[in-house]
Amino acid sequence: MKPFKPIIKDLPKILHGADYNPDQWQDRPDILAEDMRMMKKAGCNIMSVGIFSWATLEPEEGKYDFSYLDKTIDMLWENGVYVCLATPSGARPAWMSQAHPEVLRVSDNGIRNLHGARHNHCFSSPYYRKKVREMNSRLAQRYKDHPALAVWHISNEYSGECKCDYCVSAFREFIKNKYKTLDNLNKQWWTGFWSHTFTDWEQIEPPSSRGECAMPSLELDWRRFVTYQTVDFMKNEVEPIREVDKETPITTNMMGTFLDIDPSKFREVNDLFSWDSYPLWHSGDPYISSSTAFVHDIMRSLNFGKPFMLMESTPSNVNWAQINKMKKPKMHILSSLQAVAHGADTVQYFQWRKGRGGCEKFHGAVVDHYGGDDTRVFKEVQELGKLLSKTEDIAGTEYKSEVAIVYDWENRWAVKGIGGLKASKKDLDGPTKTYYRPFFQNGVNVDIIQSEDDYSKYKLLILPVLYMLKEGVVGKIEEFVREGGTVVATYLLGQVNENDLCYTGGFPAGKLGEVFGIWAEEIDCLYDNEFKTISMGDKTYKAKDYCEVLHLKGAKSLATFEEDYFKGHPALTCNSYGKGKAYYVACPEAMGELERDLCQSLIEELSLNRAVDCVLPDGVDACVRSDDETDYLFIGNFNDTDVTIPLTKEYTDLFSGEKVSGKISLSSLDMRILVYKHLQ
Ligand code: GLA
Ligand code: ZN
Repeated sequence: MKPFKPIIKDLPKILHGADYNPDQWQDRPDILAEDMRMMKKAGCNIMSVGIFSWATLEPEEGKYDFSYLDKTIDMLWENGVYVCLATPSGARPAWMSQAHPEVLRVSDNGIRNLHGARHNHCFSSPYYRKKVREMNSRLAQRYKDHPALAVWHISNEYSGECKCDYCVSAFREFIKNKYKTLDNLNKQWWTGFWSHTFTDWEQIEPPSSRGECAMPSLELDWRRFVTYQTVDFMKNEVEPIREVDKETPITTNMMGTFLDIDPSKFREVNDLFSWDSYPLWHSGDPYISSSTAFVHDIMRSLNFGKPFMLMESTPSNVNWAQINKMKKPKMHILSSLQAVAHGADTVQYFQWRKGRGGCEKFHGAVVDHYGGDDTRVFKEVQELGKLLSKTEDIAGTEYKSEVAIVYDWENRWAVKGIGGLKASKKDLDGPTKTYYRPFFQNGVNVDIIQSEDDYSKYKLLILPVLYMLKEGVVGKIEEFVREGGTVVATYLLGQVNENDLCYTGGFPAGKLGEVFGIWAEEIDCLYDNEFKTISMGDKTYKAKDYCEVLHLKGAKSLATFEEDYFKGHPALTCNSYGKGKAYYVACPEAMGELERDLCQSLIEELSLNRAVDCVLPDGVDACVRSDDETDYLFIGNFNDTDVTIPLTKEYTDLFSGEKVSGKISLSSLDMRILVYKHLQ
């Protein structure tokens, strides 16, 4: 039994497909026919259609024409291809902006935008919401029973914000609902500072470079509102679909670690998570394979562990980077299977065929302007298609993790908004990935979760820079440790509540001081060329960026600062609390070595499951998806050189069928999937 249902119930395998935009090719039936032939050849079984088709579907206000979509969906289905059907709200027709300028966003300077580009609509506009409902209702009624319909792809990469009158008054409603009274709001926002006290809700404006740009609590609530309003906009999109189609799964494609919108809030409207992955491979970044895995792990965790969709990726190059490099031979298969390794049940591309015009005409696609199936890119996509056809048993398997790292969007906003600290070091990606890497190097599966998520299933919980404590989080951490969990937290733990009000009585706040057995009195910032020696036994490390000055309140010091006025103070502590242990790290280490050594020792002490029994060479990703009977060990080599990995079990190579044991050698950019049956 697979732990999870396949995305398409009649097609239990890893799906393969792309964004398909035949509305741009309606005058070329020869091309459309060729598309069908080539899709089959490439082993594609799902296409995302209609993403930016509004102008074709409703060429004039109220005049609908679904003929192209009818033809496309029928044609795909006749050729054995399912459809991920998009709602077209990501880009509007020009007639709409002209006749109803309220759909255009008002930007930070208070000026309404002109028509153009995409992803530029007001999320509050009653007219736009009404039009979206009408469009989606028509789409749902028309295609709900079409056998090709597999997934609803709602809009595209929701993002951005609007400061029009509708949005500002919706913001005021949002904060009224939250705080109920102005008195409460004034307290929570600490408005006594700079005489900011509000006496009328109408006085409250969104943050703006022309106005309020120095109020972190307002800033946070604005970010929450933008997420709320976007989710609400998506609900408005989904309702007319759900009125007639209760079954087909719904998703919207996310943009990885994109900061401005909290993806976890889409859990209430998404049936499954999907994302668009565009790492800049071959850029010399030694951590790119682990950084990419990190985002896949976020998406799976947002999806409560269920497989996600890799909704977009490029088979070759992107067109928006400074240097738009091609994927080298083999990289496409490796990067696609890496997504599958981390829990993707689809591999999809932007896009199927390059358009002749428009700003993305040189973005990578399966089919080049050249048009043939004998390009390097097409052949690699085709080869991947063949491999994916052998993955039936992997779809719906689980990526089980005993470790969770908290990477919480609201906390990211709060840290970024701190007035103080080191300006260039308020991004949580760096510290979070520093803790992720040792697990990646050890082939230990990790979930990346929000602070309000369930901790109880994990053995080890890592809290990098968890500065903001949302309601209930202190109790959850305390309970986790009391019941035997191990937690690692860092500098800046537990300084503010969810409205960015500092806790009094010493950091980390309240009960956390007891759990960790420390008091963090102050935090010093280090210039870029400043490092402080730390010693732990006979090893030394170098602190960079921040040094927190800790006092022991029951914890043991495991490492100490050797320099400056905090010489002798602990840099790393451990406290036994209840049945568990709480570690605290007072600084980042220059090369991440303190973090690595600590995590390495915890992997051993807690006997955490590892994909293979060794520390992996850098740039090798090894992880396991499994069901009750079988483990699928994925090993990918992202290096330019060959690697050999020792194996302790006997496996069967999924693709070649050969038996593998003792060790496995992987050439540069190789990916192998090794199958291990529990009851052999
Ligand atoms: C995003 C969009 C696509 C396309 C790609 C290009 O992911 O969703 O429409 O623009 O970027 O990389
Ligand atoms: Zn607006």
